[in-house]
Amino acid sequence: MLRLLLVAGSVAVALAGRSPHADFIDELVASKPSARYSNHIIEDAKLDVPGLVAKYGYPIESHEVITPDGYILTMHRIPHGRDRNNKPVRNKPVVFLMHGMMSSSADYLVIGPGNAIGYVLAEEGYDVWLANARGNFYSRRHTTLDPNDRSNQNFWRFSWDEIGNIDLPACLSYIERVTGQTRYHYIGHSQGGTSFLVLNSLHPEYNKKFISFQAMAPAAFFEHNSHSIYSNLAPYIHILEPAAFALGRGEIFGSREFIEWFALNMCTVGSIFEPMCSSIVVSATSDYFNQTMIPLFLGHAPAGASIRQFTHYGQGINHHTFRRFDHNPITNRLIYGSRIPPDYDLNLVTAPTYIYYSVNDASTNYKDVRILVDRLPNVKGSFLMDSPTFDHLDFIWGSGVRHRLYNKMIGLMRNAERNAF
Ligand SMILES: *[C@@H]1O[C@H](CO)[C@@H](O)[C@H](O)[C@H]1NC(C)=O
Repeated sequence: MLRLLLVAGSVAVALAGRSPHADFIDELVASKPSARYSNHIIEDAKLDVPGLVAKYGYPIESHEVITPDGYILTMHRIPHGRDRNNKPVRNKPVVFLMHGMMSSSADYLVIGPGNAIGYVLAEEGYDVWLANARGNFYSRRHTTLDPNDRSNQNFWRFSWDEIGNIDLPACLSYIERVTGQTRYHYIGHSQGGTSFLVLNSLHPEYNKKFISFQAMAPAAFFEHNSHSIYSNLAPYIHILEPAAFALGRGEIFGSREFIEWFALNMCTVGSIFEPMCSSIVVSATSDYFNQTMIPLFLGHAPAGASIRQFTHYGQGINHHTFRRFDHNPITNRLIYGSRIPPDYDLNLVTAPTYIYYSVNDASTNYKDVRILVDRLPNVKGSFLMDSPTFDHLDFIWGSGVRHRLYNKMIGLMRNAERNAF
């Protein structure tokens, strides 16, 4: 148990660099000279988060946090707005955003000023902190372990349990030190919601720090999940991970995984990428997926994850539980004191909770979200998106998501602040 948090940290000048898949975008553009991509979009697809935010005239800082177990994490901060609330002011309300699985802080920025929630919050007067979980493009470093070492995969032996249990406390205490704020909002998409539940069930003293928990499509239960990637994988979960580690593939980022992810998420019917999509074609079910922006999404995602993050969700699918990672009976006994891993105790997650979900979300089924709503003790509101086609990625990338969702969310955050102080 890592109770004592010795968090080292530093702020760096945020220098612009290349996005995770900038090379892939270059190849794409070179291979299809006839395709008319907007130069603007191609440029955004190839810039990393500091480059992207600076390009649009917003202030951007990179902060480095070292976790007690040695992972070096990067947080991006937009301390104030560009058009409104554009002066540095002390004691602005802090909002912390955590991305979903295989993603990064870019999730909350790529659709640009006026649309992406990271910018919208800065304009609304918030001090915006965007985290990056261990193992992703911006947090793929460690004080002693080498993420590239295929013969020693110890860097990659973590799931979202560690992200909630270790990364989140490290990031939040760092933010408290820098801003002097001890209460803040938390916004999480998908696994960003999962890790919040992990944090507050394992460290219930954190609950009182949250003015609100804004959960978009939070993943916890998988009773009704029908997403092919999970249902195909789940029966093999117990062999998947040992095989992956034995092959030196604890990281999910390589080209094959990337193409599969691409196929599942981007091969919509009629998509300009259809020729690339080989055999797997997923029908376009969302009205909000903006195909013009596809290069942008591809430049920034997937941003890397550990195989164990999949395995952990897979265990939940197989056992119909939301519980800690199942190592093996001996290791479980050492770590948890029992052969079977304990459940995350959701009764302990008492932070004021607001949940947003959708009937057309194949990754986080709406029936499973309702199970979560029933189990959490302090749900202030749960909101079903009023569209039959809004899907999992539309929460972060959908056209018009600001008007459909973010404005309402920010109104609820303001209400929560009035009750909190
Ligand atoms: C799709 O994205 C392009 C490029 O950013 C933008 O010009 C267009 O307005 C977007 N379409 C919708 C429906 O939001």
